[in-house]
Amino acid sequence: MFTELARYGDIVGIRVVNFRNIFINHPDLIEEVLVGHPRRYFKGRVLRANRHVFGEGLLTSEGDFWLRQRRLVQPSFHRARINAYADTMVHYTQHMLESWRGGDERDVHQEMMRLTLRIVAKTLFDADVALDVQDVGKSLELLLELGANFRRTLFVPHWVPTPTNLRIKREIAYIESILYRFISERRTSGRDTGDLLSMLLHAQDEDGSRMTDKQLRDETITLFLAGHETTAASLSWTWWLLAQNPRVEAKLHAELDRVLCGRAPALDDLPRLPYTANVITESMRLYPPAWGLARVVVEDHELGGYPVKKGMGVAMAQWVVHRDPRWYDSPEEFRPERWEGDLLKRIPRFAYFPFGGGPRQCIGNSFAVMEATLILATVAQKYRLRLVPNHPVVPLASITLRPRHGVRVVLESRQTCATESLPRVNQPTTQAMSAD
Ligand code: HEM
Repeated sequence: MFTELARYGDIVGIRVVNFRNIFINHPDLIEEVLVGHPRRYFKGRVLRANRHVFGEGLLTSEGDFWLRQRRLVQPSFHRARINAYADTMVHYTQHMLESWRGGDERDVHQEMMRLTLRIVAKTLFDADVALDVQDVGKSLELLLELGANFRRTLFVPHWVPTPTNLRIKREIAYIESILYRFISERRTSGRDTGDLLSMLLHAQDEDGSRMTDKQLRDETITLFLAGHETTAASLSWTWWLLAQNPRVEAKLHAELDRVLCGRAPALDDLPRLPYTANVITESMRLYPPAWGLARVVVEDHELGGYPVKKGMGVAMAQWVVHRDPRWYDSPEEFRPERWEGDLLKRIPRFAYFPFGGGPRQCIGNSFAVMEATLILATVAQKYRLRLVPNHPVVPLASITLRPRHGVRVVLESRQTCATESLPRVNQPTTQAMSAD
């Protein structure tokens, strides 16, 4: 629908039942909303209608309360802190690979979901959810899917006891039981592990008050939801794109073999893996895990010369902007090379915005990019993923953009340079890479 709307121009009015909305499709207009005047807007209706799930967590809260929480949570996402998570990310990926065998058939989306959930639980809450991971993952997935059903979410209040609402209530109760267990264990032990949960538990307001269990629950469920499915989806789309683009796949393997030569990647390797990083950037261009953003206008004003009224919805879609031929040559092609030579500096700032922008920009941006790059590098060194023929890979625009029926693959073991030519282990240099 948004792709069709974009044909009418960069700012288009639409009415959805009783709601008046505008769809904006020019990077400058998007920048004006997200960066220029963010206080003129609240989060969109669908997210707000999901407050019984996210509560007053970072994604859905507004105003001074949001600002206070953002300041509390931000230190957990500072570069130095995130860098310390690199080993955990690689360790859990290797752990996943221990159960993989060449010739196995898998749903790589489910594998990525489990992996990123375990990583977010361990890094932010120092919790090992290995035992619960499958159930927690399923509940979270369901909440995101049902929560994105526009008609149901907006027109059936969450307290009406329909079968779907009762199901949602059960899933929330299940996840809450696990989160409250983490919280109470940590409160009882008084342990300060320096992770996000400790910081939230020990953070004090100016009046000395601390966060209640309910506030902690809201922040943790938000980070679980926002912090795992998005990264998992970006990886699932990446595997799918790689499997269809053998030239890109071969270049990726060449870089990994040259720089890592069979050993596990570490934080220091990242600057020497530019092609690997570009594969992720390009995959998030074509299949942005957050495929669209929405806001509600809270004060009358003008946007792009048009009057917008309080209560109107404003929508923008990464899916459409990222495929706009005004900013990208052959936009439908998967070409990581397009990011070489600072493309980002040559296109308008909001021609590429997988993580949103302005004050409400994704707090997990660097976390996610590092995680996706390390997982890609660790797995692609060991396996080539071949698509199972005739399995339909279909994008589902839920709150995130994910493959509706998963991505079924057959694992093919790879020979890395470690097994082919051991002497190259110490060879990689930045010079050698740029010469390539
Ligand atoms: C590829 C992975 C990811 C993508 C594409 C992504 C995308 C986004 C986008 C577009 C927003 C802005 C939403 C808006 O403006 O309405 C956002 C917000 C947010 N993201 Fe992410 N995200 C990713 C990973 C993560 C991770 C790993 C975490 C945490 C561990 C995280 C936590 C959050 C939070 C808490 C917010 C709300 C921030 C605020 O409003 O203050 N995200 N994300």
